[in-house]
Amino acid sequence: MSAVSESPVLVRREGRVGILTLNRPQQLNALNDALMDALGAALLAFDADEGIGAIVITGSDKAFAAGADIAAMAGWTYTEVVRDQFITRNWETLRQVRKPVIAAVAGFALGGGCELALACDIVVAAESARFGLPEIKLAMLPGAGGTQRLPRAIGKAKAMDLCLSGRLMDAAEADRLGLVSRVVPAERLADEALGLAATVAGYSLPALMSLKACVQRAWEGSLTEGIGYERRELYARFATEDAREGMQAFLAKRPPVFQHR
Ligand code: CAA
Repeated sequence: MSAVSESPVLVRREGRVGILTLNRPQQLNALNDALMDALGAALLAFDADEGIGAIVITGSDKAFAAGADIAAMAGWTYTEVVRDQFITRNWETLRQVRKPVIAAVAGFALGGGCELALACDIVVAAESARFGLPEIKLAMLPGAGGTQRLPRAIGKAKAMDLCLSGRLMDAAEADRLGLVSRVVPAERLADEALGLAATVAGYSLPALMSLKACVQRAWEGSLTEGIGYERRELYARFATEDAREGMQAFLAKRPPVFQHR
């Protein structure tokens, strides 16, 4: 086996799309420190790369990720997780990423795996996807944002049902509840997610980053604060070459050529 295939996160690019594949197939992509460190580093590298406009995170056919690594966690003490800032230290790197991040989910997305998908901007699911926050079965709780993002995504009643029962939901239910953005047959997942990412990455990068920040405000803050933020970001578009090009191209009935500035 080559060094590359042993890496817990495989990194590649297609045009302006950066693709990160979680790669611990024997453990159903259980998210340990090595994987989350590698994922965070790869995310930051793509975020800093001028040639990348959108990022896709995916797993295997069987598992996007089956959660935090239970084998690793089983021996940890309270003192150790506080000292080492479990989750905060490396999982939350994703929150620093300003470019759009798309999760392409097939198979199990459980616990931390579901939370990872929830922290992405768009979730494209295969019909085989199974979502759930089963931590309660371990006498644990969803601690990578799950107790906060799931109620925001699907409402308190459904979130309580999923968290307290530990049950899994299929892709159709996840679609109905608004947990995922779209569902496709498993064999179409890669094409759908990469096609979507390529479309997004073709737009003006400063506009994309601004738009993502605006929607995040809606997710996290009050309406008044969010509207004010959105208005400032709208005004800022008028300072960009890309917005001028986008509008002129529309009026001239030609495709825009964005310089990402
Ligand atoms: N951590 C560590 N190893 C895991 C794992 C996890 N979260 N999930 C699966 N694995 C391992 C299994 O131990 C098994 O390893 P061995 O072959 O060495 O025995 C291998 O992956 C394959 O798993 P199964 O044999 O269990 O596969 P299955 O198809 O029978 O079942 C499953 C699949 C339903 C996903 C089952 O593996 C499962 O329930 N996994 C645990 C899911 C879970 O509880 N996730 C939450 C973790 S806690 C968390 O995430 C906290 C947080 O919020 C941060």
